[in-house]
Amino acid sequence: MQLAVASLVILVSYAHGENIAPCGGRPADVFFVLDSSGSISLQDFRKELQFTEDVAAMFDIGPSATRVGVISFSKTVRTQFDLGQYDNRRDMLSKIANVTYEGLGTNTAEALSYLHVKGMTPEQLRPGLPHIAIVLTDGQSQDSQATLRQAEIVHRTGITVFVIGIGSQVDRHELSAIASQPTESYMFMISSFDALEHIKEELAIKACEVTPAPDVKSPEEEVEKDLLSHGSCSPRHPLDIVFAIDTAGIGASNTKFVLQFVGNISDHISMDGSQTSIATIGSGCSGGTFEEESATDAVSVRKGLSSYQTPEFDHMVRNMRIKAADGRSDSAHIGIIFLSDQLSPYTFKKASLEVRRAMFQRTTVFVVGVGDRLDETQARSLVTQDGEFVKAMSFDTLRDAGTPILYKLCVFGASK
Ligand SMILES: *[C@@H]1O[C@H](CO)[C@@H](O)[C@H](O)[C@H]1NC(C)=O
Ligand SMILES: *[C@@H]1O[C@H](CO)[C@@H](O)[C@H](O)[C@H]1NC(C)=O
Repeated sequence: MQLAVASLVILVSYAHGENIAPCGGRPADVFFVLDSSGSISLQDFRKELQFTEDVAAMFDIGPSATRVGVISFSKTVRTQFDLGQYDNRRDMLSKIANVTYEGLGTNTAEALSYLHVKGMTPEQLRPGLPHIAIVLTDGQSQDSQATLRQAEIVHRTGITVFVIGIGSQVDRHELSAIASQPTESYMFMISSFDALEHIKEELAIKACEVTPAPDVKSPEEEVEKDLLSHGSCSPRHPLDIVFAIDTAGIGASNTKFVLQFVGNISDHISMDGSQTSIATIGSGCSGGTFEEESATDAVSVRKGLSSYQTPEFDHMVRNMRIKAADGRSDSAHIGIIFLSDQLSPYTFKKASLEVRRAMFQRTTVFVVGVGDRLDETQARSLVTQDGEFVKAMSFDTLRDAGTPILYKLCVFGASK
């Protein structure tokens, strides 16, 4: 009888996950990524939350023990809480129980991007510990290409990703690309939300077996190394870049250098898997703009670099802003303006306004200032907060600005 009571007590506490420490108290940083899309019924969403509570409850929670973060995603991402925001289990569990249902699309790409851009950055993660993401989803993401791109970046940062695919609507191929390798160890496919119940211990145990993330070099160090050894680098974040070239102000012979410069940048920045797109904007004298489709390989960029005509500077900046705002939803939008002259107060005012608009549209503006006719104060004030001002002494030494620009582009978004 006593035995029965004892095992009942164990069972009860087991069900609440109170007394289990599958990691034997070893700490980890664990992020739950919860699908809250419309294909999940509210009832199933509750099961998903219950599962998250149960698994989270198995960890030893605390500032120097395991820290947990949670986001939910549907059409967009909602931060529920960041890593370590709760240092006691009870508050954390009640916050998980409170996560609200959204019921729209399945923007898995944004959810994965959130991990490496905001939730699990090197600043937030504790070095030398396992860094784990647990992704629950019941369906196919709305933009599979973007999802795969983001998954790859997450893996590259040393985060171990468990994926739990629920139901028959999931895309196995996509989920296996999100999961860490080997897939058998990190991907769980279950038939229904009820079956979550059966995998929670296995998941918690496997999560505890994750070895600490290798000491990943900082993105800055990696990019520096790449630039030193082969003069090229891969962006740490998908980028849509628009170069705005003021051919009228610059003049034909100097424009040649600028086009060469843009060509060289596109040769030395990795455009693999459409991670990066590059467009160039000039303008015609009638105010008509010549612009081309964004190119995602160096050959097409070079092909597009031809025959620009006289623009008005502020029109050009405006066109750059519009083109940049048109970039992909999961990429950073960057406009790069070449400037070699002092602008008239009127033009400067209008250009500044366009830059401010660009900033509100989340476009980052860089300025490459060239030569000694430049008004450097003016040029610098056209740079947005995350942007960069790079100076070249003259057009024939413009190439010297290449490495600093490449560096900034490749580390862009890495530490935010
Ligand atoms: C959960 O929601 C209830 C009602 O909205 C609120 O009173 C409570 O403070 C919330 N708890 C947490 C931990 O956010
Ligand atoms: C472009 O690259 C070529 C070959 O490396 C180099 O000779 C040239 O100076 C570069 N030009 C600019 C403007 O960067």
